[in-house]
Order: sequence, then structure tokens, then C-alpha cells
Amino acid sequence: MEKTYKWGIIGPGNIANKFAEGLQILPKAERYAVASRSLEKAEAFKAKYGFEKAFDSYEEMLKDPALDVVYIATTNNLHFEHTMMCLEAGKAVLCEKPFASNLLQVKQMVDKAREKQVFLMEALWSRLIPSMMQFKAQMENGAVGKPFLFQCDFGFISPFDPYKRVYDPGLGGGSIPDIGIYPVFTAMYLFGKPETIQVASVPAPTGTDWTTSILFKHKNKKISMLTSSFEMVLENEARVYGENGSLKLHRMFHMPVRLSFKANDGKETDIPLQMEGNGYNYEAAEVMECLDKGLIESPAMPFAFSLELMSVLDEIVEKAKIG
Ligand SMILES: NC(=O)c1ccc[n+]([C@@H]2O[C@H](COP(=O)([O-])OP(=O)(O)OC[C@H]3O[C@@H](n4cnc5c(N)ncnc54)[C@H](OP(=O)(O)O)[C@@H]3O)[C@@H](O)[C@H]2O)c1
Repeated sequence: MEKTYKWGIIGPGNIANKFAEGLQILPKAERYAVASRSLEKAEAFKAKYGFEKAFDSYEEMLKDPALDVVYIATTNNLHFEHTMMCLEAGKAVLCEKPFASNLLQVKQMVDKAREKQVFLMEALWSRLIPSMMQFKAQMENGAVGKPFLFQCDFGFISPFDPYKRVYDPGLGGGSIPDIGIYPVFTAMYLFGKPETIQVASVPAPTGTDWTTSILFKHKNKKISMLTSSFEMVLENEARVYGENGSLKLHRMFHMPVRLSFKANDGKETDIPLQMEGNGYNYEAAEVMECLDKGLIESPAMPFAFSLELMSVLDEIVEKAKIG
């Protein structure tokens, strides 16, 4: 019989709902426990998605010996603390993006996973969906010929409210950590770590970044042009241009929607996509496949990528402060 895993969720807010939906189609995933600061909220979530146990304390959930793996879906500022807590308790971790608040924290998380020999992965769900992998594979297989440029943006209107998570510096708010991370990681996934980074940014009244544009120069003369914003609706597409045309992940590029190739003569051809579930199932399936193999690190979403990504995000955030 196939091994199953008992999942627990910390912070059953907005995104935890999507993740729990994703778990529902995975036979290996047991919807086991949910912990919130509010028991009422944990109970409601448990009932909605068919979990077995609800806790009003994260620590109490982690004491449950039957629990195998924890999905951390709290606000950005809490990822480090909650990941360390889970790893200390010997529980495998899938932690929401951004992995932590800075590179030093990510290094400590990775060190802790190695010390405890416990699995750890950043929940960058778009990296693990087939459309993103097909996008890269098409580029690498020469669909556009030699690639030169990656253009990508992610923007929508989030009306300003100083108490909202995305505008609250105390909760790790800002367009860069919340949505800019998607164009940034995709650029790095396609072209590697940038050699130079230029940033132009406009802050919201709370000081978190409102709109940020980023220019990367990668090795082999490749360029990425990226923008994130909570002030305007952007195309939310990802496009790689090369000598023979362009490949496009259509709106919303970070979800599995549509992939096409446009030749230099303007002729556009769709590339069929594989897709199952709501997309969040892929990251959970990857975790369980790694646990089956006794790994502490995912080959598809390795520590090295999370470390590089956070080092680049740190630099962008620093440069964004200058404007
Ligand atoms: N992968 C994706 O597609 C995606 C999309 C959106 C967000 N995210 C990421 O998911 C994480 C959560 O985002 P969300 O939109 O789901 O957030 P949210 O609903 O505002 O909050 C999630 C949980 O964080 C805790 N929390 C909220 N505000 C808090 C505060 N002031 N102090 C302490 N704890 C607080 C709460 O846990 P309790 O229930 O215990 O109170 C809440 O349930 C973020 O890191 C974000 O970057 C990912």
C-alpha cells in the first residue's frame, strides 16, 4: 500500500484555503491537523476541508507525534520563527514564499534542516507547476532560438490600507515580497542568478514598496525586465524573446493558464499544457515524493535556489529603499 502523510497547517488564512483544496486530490495526503491562534477559525477550517484535528496553538499541534509535515501559511514576518519551531519539533516543512525576511534567516533555516535531518522546502508553487516547467523546457529546446530577453510583470490594485498585510512593514508587506517574487524567480529559473541588478521603486505611505521595476543583466548578455505593483492592473504575463520569436505564459502567468509561441511573422501557436487540480497540489506532491525517498531537500526546489532567490530579493529591497 502507498505510504500516506499526515499534513498540518499553521495559519489557516487566505492562501491556506487554496492549499487545502489542492491537498484534496492527493490520495497520499491525509488532511490531519490545523492550528490557528483562534480555535473557532481552526474548527471552521477543519470542517470545511475535512481535517481531523483543530488546535488553538501552533506549539500544541507540533507536539502531536502522528503529525508528519507542516504547511506554514502565516504572514511573511513569521516564516522564520514558525519554520524553526517545526524543524526543532522534527516535523517536515513546506513554508510559504517569501521563505523568510532575509538571507541570514534562510541560511539558519537550511542549517537547522541539515542539523535535524528534517525536510524543508519553500512553497513557491508556481515553480512546480507543469506550465512553468514546459515554458523553460520549450526555451531550452530552442523554440525561440537564442533567447535574449525576459519580460514579466505582476500587478493589481490593492486599495491602500495601512493595516492590510501587504502594506504593513511589520508583517513583511510590499509588492516585492508578495508578488514581485514571481517575476524575479521566473527570470532566475530561466536565465540564472543576475550579475547586475537595477531597481526603481515607489513607496506606499507606510514605506512598503508600492510599485517596483527591476532590470537584471544575466550572463551571456541576457536581460530581464520585471515590474510588480499594487497600484495598477498589469498584463501579468511572462514572455521570453529570442531570435526566432517569443514564448508567452499568458495572464496569469504564475498559474497554469496558457502557453504559446509567436513567430517573428506574427503567427501564434498554442502549446498544450498538462494540468491537474488547482496547482497547489504539485508542491504538496513534491514534498511527499521527497519524503518517500528520505530526502531533506527537494531536487526540484533546492536550498541553493531559495538561498539565491533571497539574496537577490534582499538586494532588490535595499535598492528599492533608495527609490
Ligand atoms: N502561494 C500563493 O499563491 C500565495 C498567495 C497569497 C499569499 N501567499 C503567502 O502566504 C502567506 C499568507 O498570506 P495570506 O494572504 O494567506 O495571509 P492572511 O490570510 O492575512 O494570514 C494568514 C495567517 O497569518 C496569521 N496572521 C495574520 N495576521 C497576523 C498578525 N497580524 N499577527 C500574527 N499572525 C497573523 C493568521 O494566523 P492565525 O489563523 O493563527 O491567526 C492568518 O490565518 C504569505 O506569506 C504570502 O506571501 C502565497
